Amino acid sequence: MEILISIASKIGECLVTPIGKEFGYLINYHSNLQNLKGEINKLFEKRDVVQGLVNAAKRNGESIKPDVHSWLKNVNNMIQKVSHFEDEINKKRRSPNEGTFENVVQPAPPPEIWSAFKEGFKNFKSRMVNMNELIEGLKREEVRMIGICGLGGVGKTTMVKEIIKRLDKLNLFDKIVMATVSQSPSTRMIQSEIAQEIGLKFEDESESGRARRLHRRLIEIKRILIVLDDVWTELDFEAIGLPCGDTHKGCKILLTSRDLEVCNRMGSQQLIVVPILTTEESWELFRETVGESFDDPDLRSIAKEVVNECAGLPIAIVTVGRAQKRKKKHEWVDALNQLRKSIPESIPGLDGKVYSSIKWTYDR
Ligand SMILES: Nc1ncnc2c1ncn2[C@@H]1O[C@H](COP(=O)(O)OP(=O)(O)O)[C@@H](O)[C@H]1O
Ligand SMILES: [Mg+2]
Repeated sequence: MEILISIASKIGECLVTPIGKEFGYLINYHSNLQNLKGEINKLFEKRDVVQGLVNAAKRNGESIKPDVHSWLKNVNNMIQKVSHFEDEINKKRRSPNEGTFENVVQPAPPPEIWSAFKEGFKNFKSRMVNMNELIEGLKREEVRMIGICGLGGVGKTTMVKEIIKRLDKLNLFDKIVMATVSQSPSTRMIQSEIAQEIGLKFEDESESGRARRLHRRLIEIKRILIVLDDVWTELDFEAIGLPCGDTHKGCKILLTSRDLEVCNRMGSQQLIVVPILTTEESWELFRETVGESFDDPDLRSIAKEVVNECAGLPIAIVTVGRAQKRKKKHEWVDALNQLRKSIPESIPGLDGKVYSSIKWTYDR
């Protein structure tokens, strides 16, 4: 009888304790079940005999011992538990598809955007104050939009990428997404960029259909930072599907633009102006870009003049620096003359477009 009780109580436990602990029972469950059935039948028989005796005694007007009563009660409880257990097993057997999975993996979440950013950010002092100010701004609940402005090529995109990396460690946002807007923005492109970063796939939908779906998904993310890089004109958030105003209090927008007025008109509550590099910083970046070959004291003074022509703009410093790698002195003199005459198109590597965009910002 003890064995019986221990099996039955084990089953009782099985119904309420975590399944992992009872792994051994699962492995041998078939033979265990058979044994259990046999023992239960014996218990049925025994119960019927005792119950018969009790009924006969009652009919004779005799009183029944209390331990007989409690034994019968316990056995009936146990039989109930076991038949419930059997029912469960039979149900599982009747649904053979249960536990059959075509695929046990779910699509991996899209990687965080910063994982694709290349290294090389230099922690210039001139940027540190700005970066700290910006991060502090993002921590404030009432600040929903911050604008980063500055000349083309001054380092706005580079700074914003570094900020994204740092924010990841601060756990201020559940998700950070970034879209490059550019001079002629395309709603579809912006939608696609952001959708991809949150793992949303568009069907064959209209722009407004995409906007609705994107909006719905974005407002589900409790704390989200949306970075819109290189904004030239005001954007229609609703048409893109971006939350605006109070529609999502946990959503913040970080813009970069060459134009301070665009940042203002779009509703930036805080503005960060990225300054040009100081003379020392310009020299440091230039030296690092040109590389080891640049230790010739003979070249130093002319190189310093070349750097001055770059007006503290990282894009110019890096582009000219790359072009001047391993160059002879006469080539440095040529470069300096060209820069002074402002015809840098003839310097290999200095892209005409980059130059004209820099010129455009200065000429305005
Ligand atoms: N802090 C920095 N450290 C190292 N390189 C920088 C830094 N800021 C800018 N640069 C260089 O200048 C280039 C242009 O900067 P970018 O961020 O694209 O300018 P913007 O977005 O303001 O037009 C970058 O590709 C990078 O080579
Ligand atoms: Mg940029």
